[in-house]
Amino acid sequence: MSYPIPPHPGHRFPPGFVWGVATSSFQIEGAAEADGKGDSIWDRFCRVPGAIADGSDGRVACDHYHRWAEDLDLIAALGVDAYRFSVSWPRVQPDGRGAFNARGLDFYERLVDGLLTRGIKPYLTLNHWDLPAALQDTGGWAARDTVHRFVDFALHVAARVGDRVDAITTHNEPWVVAVLGHEAGVFAPGLRDRRTAMQVAHHLLLSHGLALQALRAQGCSSRLGIVLNLSPVFPASDSAGDAVAARLEDGRLVRWYMDPLFGRGYPADVWEALGGDVPQVEPGDLAAIAAPLDFLGLNYYSRSMVRASGPFDVHTSGKRLTDMGWEIVPECLTELLLRLHRDWPLPPLVVMENGAAFQDRLHDGRVADGERIDYIASHIAAVGDAIAQGVPMAGYMVWSLMDNFEWASGYAKRFGIVHVDYATLARTPKDSYHWYRGFLHVQQRQRAAETVGAPAPVQG
Ligand code: GCO
Repeated sequence: MSYPIPPHPGHRFPPGFVWGVATSSFQIEGAAEADGKGDSIWDRFCRVPGAIADGSDGRVACDHYHRWAEDLDLIAALGVDAYRFSVSWPRVQPDGRGAFNARGLDFYERLVDGLLTRGIKPYLTLNHWDLPAALQDTGGWAARDTVHRFVDFALHVAARVGDRVDAITTHNEPWVVAVLGHEAGVFAPGLRDRRTAMQVAHHLLLSHGLALQALRAQGCSSRLGIVLNLSPVFPASDSAGDAVAARLEDGRLVRWYMDPLFGRGYPADVWEALGGDVPQVEPGDLAAIAAPLDFLGLNYYSRSMVRASGPFDVHTSGKRLTDMGWEIVPECLTELLLRLHRDWPLPPLVVMENGAAFQDRLHDGRVADGERIDYIASHIAAVGDAIAQGVPMAGYMVWSLMDNFEWASGYAKRFGIVHVDYATLARTPKDSYHWYRGFLHVQQRQRAAETVGAPAPVQG
């Protein structure tokens, strides 16, 4: 089998640039009731008729909880520097308060040590959406007490593995939790109330800042950050109304998170537009949220197009689409990174997720996913373009290591560079896996050559 050589070999990635691959607990682990794990809000949401497109759930998923060693071998063979995973809170603290579950923590300890043995840097995410269901019963993220429960959870996890993980991120995509979970109601916990969503967004940010403070006070040695889902927002037409709508959407998606993280408080235009739906903010909250970041993670998939009068139909845009119906616009990633660099005093930036779903077919032991290779290669090039223009990029991770539970879409959408047969749970590396491996190999040779001062090879 031959694979295309990595395009854009001319891009130079800085020394220490971290290449990785990412997953999250609920999407891959399965073992929903094993070893004392409690229910998460996603376990519960999956039981709501109609909530998940294919009626599926996370009970088995990729069974990573039992097959983790095989999965770590796949990661090691890929040649990445880092693996990003998340900790299931109800696995390590079934009720979200009170007793911790040693067997749950043992799993993450095995995982971290298994990564280190294989020479891979662990990047740990504390909250990738699977809040203990018991905490939802006392108000979930809308309740201020959950902020303090999260800080306890963070301290406990860090006390166990914090000395061995390279990076800890508090939350994955607070906008998604707040807006898709509490305003649009399409993700767990399935609520539809804007005021609640904004209170949730505030509590997520507050718990992030307080967790950073507490982790540092505890002497945690890993680098600390948060992961935001960011997209450039465009008006769908030249009309003044669409421009206003796009500016407000940029406020809700990007500035609502970036501004307070960098000490600027909430954006005044969004605050005003929210009217009676603004969150309750207590004295000291904004200072806590602005705790210094060692790095900022961002997830990028596509751009966002906004119309004042309602949804924009991306199918009419002329851009190629992924199986999620998302436009493939790598140039917008460069544009986003340049804008972040221009508008905020950034710490090192890491693309913590980037990837695409396509209708893959396993045929004779092979998945020929050339579209995914194009997607990943063009987005890596977009990161290279941003670096060339001065953006402080420190890493890039592919979403995802393997096909997995794609939230409300169930198992129908495949994002993996490794194919999972859900009947047998067999893993088969796709062409994109082999391509990424070849690309990483070239990067490593380039690095090695630069270390000894020899001229760097430009391609494999
Ligand atoms: C995300 C999610 C992933 C999704 C991916 C594709 O952070 O949005 O982390 O869990 O699977 O984004 O939709």
